[in-house]
Amino acid sequence: MTNDGQPIPVIIDCDTGVDDALALLFAVRHPGLDLRAVTCVAGNTDVDGVVRNTLTVLERAGAPDIPVARGAGRPLIEPARSARHVHGEDGMGDLGLPAPTRAPADVGAIALLRREILASPRPVTLVPTAPLTNIALLLRTHPEVTANIERVVFMGGAVATGNATPVAEFNVWHDPEAAAILLTAGVPLTMYGLDVFQRVVVPGADVRRLRASEEPGARLAGDLLSHRPAAPDLAAELLSRRPPASDVAPDPEAGGIGDAGAVCAVVDPAGITTRLLPVEVSLAPGPTRGQTIVDRRPRPGESEIHVGHREQQLVDVALEVDVDRFVKLYLETVTGI
Ligand code: BDR
Ligand code: CA
Repeated sequence: MTNDGQPIPVIIDCDTGVDDALALLFAVRHPGLDLRAVTCVAGNTDVDGVVRNTLTVLERAGAPDIPVARGAGRPLIEPARSARHVHGEDGMGDLGLPAPTRAPADVGAIALLRREILASPRPVTLVPTAPLTNIALLLRTHPEVTANIERVVFMGGAVATGNATPVAEFNVWHDPEAAAILLTAGVPLTMYGLDVFQRVVVPGADVRRLRASEEPGARLAGDLLSHRPAAPDLAAELLSRRPPASDVAPDPEAGGIGDAGAVCAVVDPAGITTRLLPVEVSLAPGPTRGQTIVDRRPRPGESEIHVGHREQQLVDVALEVDVDRFVKLYLETVTGI
């Protein structure tokens, strides 16, 4: 809720996407959120597939009236490169879901974002859970929207280990220039990166309970979670906070909520521990491209002493997440109990 007791106005920009779908189910069901629009961008699958999946999820969630718009079909510079090997041929785990019964908005994503942000009586929280192409185009085309943006809470980047490359997370790697535009736009930012993203996992027993539900939205959440086996918690292992995955009893039916964690962080910011840190995106060709370089040094180094300070945006970077708290929040919201 906002300080005056009203639901927080949010817009999700997504590439639905199994875990984007989990995020949408959560957002439409949480009473503290007012989901004003959903915009679609190429990422996990092609943008037409993203639009179709998004409309289908909203119908299944019982929220068929939220405007949905088609956005960029490819990154600013590079070609689109899908993640179908993770999200299935249809981008939604190949669950055989029906086609949606309605069409997207008759305006594109950038126009819809502009319209909804400027029309909102309270500043909007933007939640991109996808490559940042639409957001960069919006900020460059209509910079006046920043006056009515409360904060951007984005799923993207990584402090420690990447997934698309050893150091780059998929959403930032897919369109690094777009991420750089967001990072230098001067809006307050929270980075919900891979370090916390991978940790919020729903136990198998809860996934089975959701899958057995009579209610279509909760059942869909269960089916989607069963398509998201928990990834080994590499970041925690590397920092010796957890035993190696091989020492932990496997829970093959457990599933990560992924992008939905970023929406949980909007509703319940105390569930993550953040630090305000300088963040920069590597735009260099080669092995670092798309890396988010998060400066956690306690004091300036030789580079700053000899070469001078560079302008870098400070970002609230999520370093820790209360896993049990977000799992409970997710399950209670999606099942309505
Ligand atoms: C991100 O990439 C996509 O596969 C997920 O939906 C998430 O947004 C994780 O790197
Ligand atoms: Ca996504």
